[in-house]
Amino acid sequence: MSGPQPTSLGALGVADAAAPRSFRTPIGTHDLMPPESGRWVALMGAFVAAAERAGFDYVATPIFEDVGVFARIGEGTDVVGKEMYEFFDRSDRHLALRPECTASVCRAFAQHRPTTPWKVWYQGPFFRYEAPQAGRFRQFHQIGAETLGTDDPDADVEIIALAATFFDAVGLQRAPLAVNSMGDADTRAAYGDALTAYLHRRRADLDPQDRDKIERHPLRILDSKRTATAAVADEAPRIADYLTTETASHFERVRSGLDALGIEHHLEHRLVRGLDYYTRTTFEFRATGLDAAQNAICGGGRYNGLVEALGGPPTPGIGFALGIERLLLACDAEGVFEVPHRRAEVWVIDTTGGAAARDLSHYLRGLGIRADRCFDDRSMRAQMRAADRSGAEIALIVGADEAAAGTVTVRPLRCPDGTGTQMAQQTVQRSSLASTLRDVFDALNSPAPAVVGESNGA
Ligand code: HAM
Repeated sequence: MSGPQPTSLGALGVADAAAPRSFRTPIGTHDLMPPESGRWVALMGAFVAAAERAGFDYVATPIFEDVGVFARIGEGTDVVGKEMYEFFDRSDRHLALRPECTASVCRAFAQHRPTTPWKVWYQGPFFRYEAPQAGRFRQFHQIGAETLGTDDPDADVEIIALAATFFDAVGLQRAPLAVNSMGDADTRAAYGDALTAYLHRRRADLDPQDRDKIERHPLRILDSKRTATAAVADEAPRIADYLTTETASHFERVRSGLDALGIEHHLEHRLVRGLDYYTRTTFEFRATGLDAAQNAICGGGRYNGLVEALGGPPTPGIGFALGIERLLLACDAEGVFEVPHRRAEVWVIDTTGGAAARDLSHYLRGLGIRADRCFDDRSMRAQMRAADRSGAEIALIVGADEAAAGTVTVRPLRCPDGTGTQMAQQTVQRSSLASTLRDVFDALNSPAPAVVGESNGA
């Protein structure tokens, strides 16, 4: 047999692999558990609705790629230089877990050459070896969107508007939008020289931990949070003064477009972002309710050279990504977008062994009703308690009498809106169950699930 042989756990240094042992999530990762997971599902639903209204299609790229795809983010960036999860597979391919999706989307564009403008959105886990803290994880989750194939400033406005509309939909109010322009290659070269010269002059005033960045990554000094460095950065030359006529007018058109749509924003000269591929527009939404170190809930910008750097034709692009964990922390800080309460509509109670509950709950789900039941032949009392806890509007009860007669008892669990009087329960033939349920839902003023009325019964 050729090819790599399976590795035994012993060979991996896992002692006594068969012995029971408990494990926890690796540092910087977390399990997403109910009921919080319900919030994620709702969040995704709200984003899908906004993205589809704006004409974006879903794209999914691999969790790992050739390490070279991500090298294009910038070898000198923390994301690539310090935080990437790299590994060699069993065939010695050098791969990396994706730290972000823009490079992958551009790689996919270069590979498949779809027609432009190509408007796509994505979601999923991303990986950065960072120091874990609140809102900063090693496996985190992003939702993002990218438009490739147009340099039209209205595409920048559309992308920013998509993020802003989504934040409105989740109820977030305190996440101001900062914008800036990185200009083009000429701008960056001229500005880079001016900034480096300035930083050399002010070297002694910088926080010692930032001094070596002057040579390695002078732009990163601009968004340093360290007090001494921030003071130097405040007085640094501004990139706005180095924009070419064309990039300045592109940026002007983006800002006036945002004004026209009523999207509040402010110019932030020091907004340079941590990835090297940006050209022209950059932006960030920062939640005022979170600590400065992790208050960026969404960031993005233009990257007009990235597709070409990944072997594709010259193709402009603009996009954003938002961190789901951070966005939800920002929602918590504002007390919005709470965990949705997922209720059953009907709870089936069966004291005859469980077969009736099995059949009826399946039947009800076929009618479009959210139906649930207890397992393990619990007592009537325990099943009633479960029905109450579920928030169901109606309990269906099958006891010995009902089982013998082929009937079901329909018991409303709450009073009709505006009344304080519980409706009487009724025992009906299974064949008229669907119409009875429709009448009870009507009387309770609960919109009956649409398909109930069309059915002919069990
Ligand atoms: P980014 O600013 O590196 O940009 O990440 C976007 C968002 O992901 C951040 O604003 C933050 O909410 C979240 N995030 C990043 N790292 C972590 C972490 N370790 N833990 C929790 N959340 C995190 C990008 O990734 C670009 N690809 C955005 C883009 C799209 N630019 C153009 N198109």
